[in-house]
Amino acid sequence: MDYATDSKTAWLAEEINTLKEQGLFNTIRTIESAMDGHITVDGKPVLNFCANNYLGLANHPRLREAAKHAIDKYGIGPGAVRTIAGTMSLHNRLEERLAAFKGVEACISLQSGFTANLATIPALVGRGDVIFSDELNHASIIDGSRLSRATIVRYRHNDVDDLRQKIAETTEYGRRIIITDGVFSMDGDIAPLPELCEVASEHDILLMVDDAHGEGVLGRGGRGIVDHFDLHGKVDIEVGTMSKAFGVVGGMVAGKRVIIDWLKQRGRPFLFSSAMTVPDTAACLEAVEILESSDELVTRLWRNAELFKREMTTLGFDVGHSATPIVPVMLGEAPLAQEFSRRLFEQGVFAMAIGYPTVPQGKARIRVMNTAAHSQDDLEQALAAFESVGKALGVIG
Ligand SMILES: Cc1ncc(COP(=O)(O)O)c(C=O)c1O
Repeated sequence: MDYATDSKTAWLAEEINTLKEQGLFNTIRTIESAMDGHITVDGKPVLNFCANNYLGLANHPRLREAAKHAIDKYGIGPGAVRTIAGTMSLHNRLEERLAAFKGVEACISLQSGFTANLATIPALVGRGDVIFSDELNHASIIDGSRLSRATIVRYRHNDVDDLRQKIAETTEYGRRIIITDGVFSMDGDIAPLPELCEVASEHDILLMVDDAHGEGVLGRGGRGIVDHFDLHGKVDIEVGTMSKAFGVVGGMVAGKRVIIDWLKQRGRPFLFSSAMTVPDTAACLEAVEILESSDELVTRLWRNAELFKREMTTLGFDVGHSATPIVPVMLGEAPLAQEFSRRLFEQGVFAMAIGYPTVPQGKARIRVMNTAAHSQDDLEQALAAFESVGKALGVIG
């Protein structure tokens, strides 16, 4: 595309052209159907292995009904920020239900998982304080940490010994916090939370986990990583999202009431940005209701993921070290991953290639997101497509 530029914007067109030359320009596909296991992308019906819609709730009839019902009763928008315009009972109810679901004293909802991190980290630490951060933490943790102005000390990915060493070396501090993703979204591996709890407790350091990809996936009935490791009461702050397994959009922070009440006073995205919309909030409430009443969807998700991983390994693919339904199909160089994704799409399977800088150079992959929305037939069709493309491109024998 040719851009109309002037002296102030010509550099942007140059930057965009450079991205295109390097094969790093994001082209966003258009989805013309509801978000589900089967979708229509750019006019083509395909099987969807890209979405974080782990439980298939994004188009669940009960969530749709709950959203419509709430619109009829409360309208759409929250009107303004909650501290100024008052809060809707719906938001309070969601927070109470989430707190009970997760087994914590209190919970606060925010507009997204991203803003939940931006709200939480700068409210808890500031200049003169220290954040110990896993080197592979999500961008929203990195941005929240930078906003806080605290010193950021990165430790090697999931390396508790390195964390201990970094703690020992960091002697100048006010307050301290350890922050980790619960599930790392590019590899599907899980943080060593029990060991992190020990370190945090030995050194009297706050511990925060961002459980965006564990919410609705890990633990009993999808209660998250803290429940998965049975660490209730030992992790100070759980950040989460309702944009993935819950199938809607929204963020949450769960933990001790003293922390949640503080976030209502000092969390800037809470104080200076409007709340979740009415249909989103009602749909999230229904998602909690569904999760609390049955673990059927979580069980199906894991069954699908195990089957997919097992069959891909048997076919000869390298699927990394995932311990979750995220399956990275390791391919190496970005052009190969892109070609692989393009050919899968031709065969009716939508699975995105991920390359540098999202993952390190030489570690490009197709990231397969398994969900409960896939049937056995869907998985067999996807496996057949992977086999055929893998053989055609010489990735498997
Ligand atoms: C670890 C982590 N935190 C936060 C987010 C952001 O969540 P949301 O999409 O709700 O803003 C993501 C999403 O990619 C994530 O993986």
